[in-house]
Amino acid sequence: MLMYDIITKKKLGKELTKEEINFFINGYVNKSIPDYQVSSLLMSIWFNKLNMNETILLTEAMINSGDTVDISDIQGIKVDKHSTGGVGDKTSLVLLPILASNGLKISKMSGRGLGHTGGTLDKLESIEGFQINLSEKKIKEIINKNGFVICGQTSNLVPADKKLYSLRDVTATVDNIQLIASSIMSKKIASGADYILLDVKVGNGAFMKNLQDAVVLSKTMVAIGDAFNKKVRAVITNMYEPLGRAVGNSLEVIEAVETLKGNGPNDFTHLCLFLAANIFHMTGVVCNMDEGLKKAENSINSGKALRYFETFINLQHGNAKIIKDYCLFDKCKYITKINSIKSGNIQNIDAEKIGKAALLAGAGREKKEDNIQHSTGVVLYKKTNEEVSKDDCIAEIHTNKKENIDSITKIILSAFEIDTNININKKLIYGIVDDNGFKEYK
Ligand code: URA
Repeated sequence: MLMYDIITKKKLGKELTKEEINFFINGYVNKSIPDYQVSSLLMSIWFNKLNMNETILLTEAMINSGDTVDISDIQGIKVDKHSTGGVGDKTSLVLLPILASNGLKISKMSGRGLGHTGGTLDKLESIEGFQINLSEKKIKEIINKNGFVICGQTSNLVPADKKLYSLRDVTATVDNIQLIASSIMSKKIASGADYILLDVKVGNGAFMKNLQDAVVLSKTMVAIGDAFNKKVRAVITNMYEPLGRAVGNSLEVIEAVETLKGNGPNDFTHLCLFLAANIFHMTGVVCNMDEGLKKAENSINSGKALRYFETFINLQHGNAKIIKDYCLFDKCKYITKINSIKSGNIQNIDAEKIGKAALLAGAGREKKEDNIQHSTGVVLYKKTNEEVSKDDCIAEIHTNKKENIDSITKIILSAFEIDTNININKKLIYGIVDDNGFKEYK
């Protein structure tokens, strides 16, 4: 078999066979097929797409490229959750303690962020001492004690995706629905959970820029789940404006702790409760969503979820005193307030622009090698549908880079769309995709 012929076939829009897909994945991982040929195939896939059968075969080949995690010896209902990523998305930090405090078991392998702000691992590493590299034995030990773990991927989990994702990142081929779906689902399936909840973000701060694409991505991932006997549900949620008010690693951890204490921003709190209710519902822990929401709320109101979060930090060697004393986080040299230049009602806060502002402040990575400054980022004082008067503080920049403050300020001011309309129809949740298709959320 020749890689040249496989590229030609996809260039002409023809369907690849199982043997051809396995040949390309195995050859890429064992280095017999070079980057330049894989780049060419990726671009052909980008233009001509993969059908559902090819997408499932690609997912299977990627899973088989490495080890899978066997968590069958952990007692209880095993669930996993994945967000396609967005600005201010710290949902796992609140959702997982809620689930664990209700008896579910979650082994969550997360990634680092490339782009606006850090990934979940970067956020957790803003806590002094926090360990993200755990052996499989340790992962199981922690789950058996406290119900959940958040750690880095074990070294040989889906190595094909590690290589392909890096290549897609530099060849403008990340934004293809079938490649995204197989990338996400290969890692989730290899991680061993039986139930997977996907938070698919839609908006200018997300991979999916419109609802139609988000629905197609969700349906593709649900269908992949079906093919591997996993129960998958996708919730499509807003990423036109940042989630919550804090954007940046330790700033987001503080917001997550406040949410676990019952003082979180409305949108972020509601999303965490809604995702938790969906998981309780899909796993049969409750019979309907209302019961699920009550269960999730009770975990927060009783302080149970916060206690699970505290134990989680301790078990992963972090300094859990941060829960009571936020001064234990590093502080930035410069904290600058930004005031509104006009009065009105906030129509939207452009998520992508706030992400760029946080990146310039030092919260994210432009290149893989870049270091993150954990305490940097942006805090929003106002959100969509809130009134603002000229000179009111609308946001705060946390940075160590004095030279960037002016440009960050300009970006943040341009992110706020202020006008006279009131009661903007802002949706936090667009709908749910499961085996029954897409159901719009009213
Ligand atoms: N997240 C992933 O894990 N893979 C993609 O391709 C895109 C987002």
